[in-house]
Amino acid sequence: MDVITNHESRDDGSIWKRYKTSTGIEVVVTSAFREVMRNGQSNIVDDGKDIPSSFLRLLHKYRKDYESNRTGDSRRYIASWFEASFFAIQDSNVGIREEKHAWQNEDKLDRMDRIQHLLELWAIPRWIHAPVHYGMLKIPQMRRWYYDKFLLMEKVDWGVTAFDIIDEPRNENIRKSIIHEFGWVYWFEALEGDNYESFRNEIRKKYIEVKFMLKNAFDQHRDQFPWWTFSSLFTDLLQRNFIITHNQTPIGNSKVSFWIIDQ
Ligand SMILES: Nc1ncnc2c1ncn2[C@@H]1O[C@H](COP(=O)(O)OP(=O)(O)O)[C@@H](O)[C@H]1O
Ligand SMILES: [Mg+2]
Repeated sequence: MDVITNHESRDDGSIWKRYKTSTGIEVVVTSAFREVMRNGQSNIVDDGKDIPSSFLRLLHKYRKDYESNRTGDSRRYIASWFEASFFAIQDSNVGIREEKHAWQNEDKLDRMDRIQHLLELWAIPRWIHAPVHYGMLKIPQMRRWYYDKFLLMEKVDWGVTAFDIIDEPRNENIRKSIIHEFGWVYWFEALEGDNYESFRNEIRKKYIEVKFMLKNAFDQHRDQFPWWTFSSLFTDLLQRNFIITHNQTPIGNSKVSFWIIDQ
């Protein structure tokens, strides 16, 4: 990693750092990433550098797989939807959202980093989260203004979304993950029957509750964000943009967590 081109103070008090490699790759690292490492919350060794060497080594392996279009240990396929595919880097808790031929902007990183900060500021119940966003890599394409974009963030289990539960799982892997993660808690062995129905209803109800809480919190703090509207901050609160996980210990009476993604 070469020169730091910029330290950027953002209006929510966080600081992003920017790099440009000699090969033209642009890198942004959020302060949330450094915070996570400092607190020992990640399984990446903090060596005091902005981007730890152990993490760079993981990225390096990942990149080789990416370039030869391989999946494997260093690039494990998790799931995809229309625009992006999501991969885990080895057995770390780092995930990468790959988007090809994307417009160059950093809107998603900006909003997701901000949302993470706001959930805390607004004292939203702790079962509603956003994955910590570590940063972003942009590889310029031949066509001007277009990039392959890689959004680095906390990986949340196997990417099961509210849509997969309420509607239908996208694929066999997701179906298995639902049974594996929730079956023993809600007593179902297949995605059918009364027990699955009541689990499904719980997620359906909670999904509405979550949106309601976010809207309320936003309205209460509206004066602090004159330049944001609810829907410019939360652009896409669809069922498919919430990952659902099980809480081993209920949080504020909730057995499940909702993770906001892809805003
Ligand atoms: N932080 C994450 N941890 C685990 N899986 C994720 C994460 N973010 C996204 N995914 C998985 O990747 C899929 C696509 O990601 P998303 O950002 O919603 O892209 P798209 O624009 O294609 O909808 C999601 O449906 C989810 O299954
Ligand atoms: Mg999505």
